Amino acid sequence: MEFVLDTADLDAIKELDQLINVAGVTTNPTIITKSGKQPEEVISALVDYLKPEQKLFVQTVSTDLEGMLEEARYICGLRPENTYVKIPVTHNGLKTIKAAKAEGLGVLATAIYSADEAFLAALNGADYLAPYVNRMCNYGDGLGQVIDLIQMLEVQGLESKVIAASFKSVEQVHTLIAAGIQAVTVPPEVVRAMIDHPGTEIAVQEFTANWERAYGRKTLRA
Ligand code: G3P
Repeated sequence: MEFVLDTADLDAIKELDQLINVAGVTTNPTIITKSGKQPEEVISALVDYLKPEQKLFVQTVSTDLEGMLEEARYICGLRPENTYVKIPVTHNGLKTIKAAKAEGLGVLATAIYSADEAFLAALNGADYLAPYVNRMCNYGDGLGQVIDLIQMLEVQGLESKVIAASFKSVEQVHTLIAAGIQAVTVPPEVVRAMIDHPGTEIAVQEFTANWERAYGRKTLRA
């Protein structure tokens, strides 16, 4: 199971990379604009920072077939391996996914709002499918759709991995991990909420206080 960070904030990536096993980083045009920096600077910092085995996902900005395909080649050429182009599942996007896969590029189909959109992108050969969980919940049973998708891929023997995105709560992530999802991409604030149960810090303070009262020090050995 791959746990990916949905951010281009390098400070947040470095912080969380020390705490948990980060399988990679996803960005999109909005995420990159939020950095306040030029896109080349943001992308090159991510390329420099990530270890070879950590995956990088960068999205196309063009909306026509030729433009998307040219950007797909550029993105996948940023690193020798583990770099994927994110392609929204518009009509031109679906065409681009077919063309990119014919060239052997790594593809994540994105901006997915239904299990059916995702399934067709899987038939086009997309390596990853990114349903927008929280946004889908605004239209209906978003979590149910993603759970259906996991099952549709399994019963039809398709190898595309679901990498659920657009998370706003720990519960959304939890539900899909429990359902057997192959990957999630989670924004730093939701990751921190997964890590930081207040009870843990309280428990440690209690252990330290009891130890200090009994032995007059805060370490195991004198
Ligand atoms: O990768 C971005 C995707 O997760 C969408 O997130 O927060 O804009 O719904 P959001």
